[in-house]
Amino acid sequence: MLSKKMEKAINEQINAELYSSYLYLSMATFFESVSLGGFANWMRQQAQEELFHGMKMFDYVCECGGRVTLKAIDKPPSNWASPLDAFQNVLAHEQKVTGLINDLVNLAQEERDHATTIFLQWFVSEQVEEEASAGGLVDKLKMIGKDASALFMLDTELGQRTFTLPAKE
Ligand code: FEO
Repeated sequence: MLSKKMEKAINEQINAELYSSYLYLSMATFFESVSLGGFANWMRQQAQEELFHGMKMFDYVCECGGRVTLKAIDKPPSNWASPLDAFQNVLAHEQKVTGLINDLVNLAQEERDHATTIFLQWFVSEQVEEEASAGGLVDKLKMIGKDASALFMLDTELGQRTFTLPAKE
C-alpha cells in the first residue's frame, strides 16, 4: 500500500513524464519544420517512450490500490536555435528528471516503502541510458558543427530509431 505522501509524489512524477513526452513531441514538430525528418522521428519515438514511463507509474499506483490524479501539462517551448541547442535541452531535461527520480527513491526509503524502492530501480537504470543517449548526441552534434553532409548522415541514422512497447513484467 502506498502512503498518501508517496502516492502524491508518484502522481507528480507521472505529470513530469507526460510533460517529457509533450516536450519531445514539440521538438519533433520543430525538426519536421526544418526538414530533419530523422531527428523528428527520434523525438517521436522518445515521446512514446516517455508516455510509457508515465503509464508504468500509472499502472503501479493502480496496482497498489492508489489513485492517479492527472494534472494540467505545462506548455513546452516550441523553438530551438539549432539541433545542438535542442539536444542540449534534452540532456538538461533528462538530468533534471534523474534528480526527480532520485528524490522519489529517497522518499520511498524514508517511508520504508520497499516495494516502491524496488519499483523505482528500473527508472534509476533507465535514467543512466537516457542521459547517455542524449549526451552522445550532443557530442556528435558538436563534432558535426556546420558540416551539412554530416548532419544529414546523422539525420538518416536517427530516422532508424523505433520504440517497441516492452512486454509487461
Ligand atoms: Fe522518462 Fe526521459 O525520462
